[in-house]
Amino acid sequence: MTAAPSISEQHDVDLTALNTFGLPARAKRLLRLKSADDARAFAAARHDGGEPCLVLGGGSNLVLRGEPLACVLKVEIAGRHKLGEDGEAIIVEAAAGESWHDFVRWTLAEGWPGLENLSLIPGSVGAAPIQNIGAYGLEMAERFDSLDAIDLASGETRRFDAAACRFGYRESAFKQQPGRWLVVAVRFRLPRRWQPLSAYGDIARELAARDIAAPTPLQVSDAVIAIRRRKLPDPAELGSAGSFFKNPVVDARQCAALLAVHPGLPHYPQPDGREKLAAGWLIEQCGWKGRRIGPAGCHTGQALVLVNHGGASGADVLRLAAHIQDDVASRFGVALEIEPVVT
Ligand code: EPU
Repeated sequence: MTAAPSISEQHDVDLTALNTFGLPARAKRLLRLKSADDARAFAAARHDGGEPCLVLGGGSNLVLRGEPLACVLKVEIAGRHKLGEDGEAIIVEAAAGESWHDFVRWTLAEGWPGLENLSLIPGSVGAAPIQNIGAYGLEMAERFDSLDAIDLASGETRRFDAAACRFGYRESAFKQQPGRWLVVAVRFRLPRRWQPLSAYGDIARELAARDIAAPTPLQVSDAVIAIRRRKLPDPAELGSAGSFFKNPVVDARQCAALLAVHPGLPHYPQPDGREKLAAGWLIEQCGWKGRRIGPAGCHTGQALVLVNHGGASGADVLRLAAHIQDDVASRFGVALEIEPVVT
């Protein structure tokens, strides 16, 4: 397989610094893509029979098992601008390689609120739709307009609207087909009639503590940043991939049965009548918060986050995860699903 001449290519690359968990693995080839044309050129020049590539953005939702990876595509496409507006929304577009948090703060500085609840989420713009990032009462899907992605098998560029992306809770069509699509640009609709989303417990408490009754978008963003700094590890200091498990969704009967025995269990009704349970609470009840097995641990500030205390491998992290899953299953009868991409 030959890459286009403009694409920089490295061989036998250590990926430890390229994933926020700091897990070791080697890439036989690592290609840095600086433009959509680079990505199309790569797809057109492939002669590897479509061997799946790992598409890497900020590497913040990734668990590397440690197996060598044949091909890693590092998406470094830059650029962001206002695309247009209509009566209801400002439409902005950002290239996949932009930092998500920098993009959010830029929209706020430009006077286009709507993404402030998603401040300080690590990773890139292109990765945001893959797992439909969400926090503090907002999911990315609620502000999404469309995206452009390149089919790495054919080189074809396709535009996806929200329906085609099949967004769900930390889910999308792309997460189901790893290595197939490379997102190059994402467009968002930021509502003209802005209202703060400040009902989520942590935000309401943070704003109250700051004596803010009617917050501006920047004040909501600053509150989210303060909460995240308090609860979640800074990837620059302690490796992690954010929440390691999804919050499990169970039917109403199972939730009622659990509540009868565990009245403190946090649960959130879903539109389909089921209930989402707080996985962090289940894990903490099993005694895992702050515990570690070797270099892999369960974060002291948030039990849903697994961390690398230094030198952990993917196997160490997955071993800890399996223990936690076993304990939660045997104590509560609830299966925890791993949230980041494991490869
Ligand atoms: N809880 C505990 N112990 C813990 C952690 C949480 O009892 O160790 C309880 C909390 O007291 C609260 C409930 O669980 O009653 C929910 O906790 P929190 O508000 O911290 O949120 P979460 O459900 O644990 C989710 C997202 C986070 C997001 C926060 C805030 C998932 C998988 N995680 O966590 O997203 O920041 O809500 O909206 O949905 C991520 O995806 O990487 C991530 C960090």
